[in-house]
Amino acid sequence: MLVKLKIFRFDPQKDKEPHYQSFNVEANPMERLLDCLNRIRWEQDPTLSFRWSCGHGVCGSDGMRINGICGLPCQKLVKNFKEEVLIEPFPVFKVIKDLVVDLDPFLEKYHSIKPYLVTKTRPPEKERIQLPRSPEEQKMFEAAVRCILCACCTAACPVNQNPETKAYVGPAALVRAFRYLFDSRDEASEDRIALLDHKDGAWGCQTLLKCTEVCPKEIPVTKQIGQIKKRIYETKHKRSGGGETKR
Ligand code: SF4
Ligand code: FES
Repeated sequence: MLVKLKIFRFDPQKDKEPHYQSFNVEANPMERLLDCLNRIRWEQDPTLSFRWSCGHGVCGSDGMRINGICGLPCQKLVKNFKEEVLIEPFPVFKVIKDLVVDLDPFLEKYHSIKPYLVTKTRPPEKERIQLPRSPEEQKMFEAAVRCILCACCTAACPVNQNPETKAYVGPAALVRAFRYLFDSRDEASEDRIALLDHKDGAWGCQTLLKCTEVCPKEIPVTKQIGQIKKRIYETKHKRSGGGETKR
């Protein structure tokens, strides 16, 4: 089938303004949009810039906007696109070239929530075992572990898109915070709660659900952020017998 793509182009070394360029590509209906982008780069315009690595929804590096919705072109079959497909870089982030954006601010926010297991007690002789959970808790926890840091959720979040609230840490960082806050082996929940209990932390989420809609790993992002808020609230009330939460 013939696939038509209208692609955002911007080379800051040559262009004063961004523009769009249309390409036609012959593709098998079961190929992905990423295959079309690669064919354009290999056969029509080697200057087209975009990131990708695994080609199979694992590395999270090829996030972009497809017909206005943040997603991974390696997961989009061309047979599902009958009209011309609009391909643009993520919003929120600065464009470096064409579809490549600067993800440094995203990674800085991610690192700010301590995205690693913190232990303070002496390690046991063997491994640290996670305590058993209820099947429901286990399901939620496993979903958080699936995150590939593609940034689709953060780019799609209207709070992150709003210049007035762009300091919000964003859904991807909160999914990782959830993963460690609810890990029975982690011994830094007090520190984590202090990091998340402010207007640009977990309380920055306005429950708009865009993150959950676009997540390519089907993580219940908004629900997990809600669990973090609940944990903050419960911890503070337990600690002070009715402490106030900064909002
Ligand atoms: Fe990507 Fe989903 Fe992780 Fe957000 S939560 S970074 S959309 S995998
Ligand atoms: Fe790795 Fe799409 S290329 S997730």
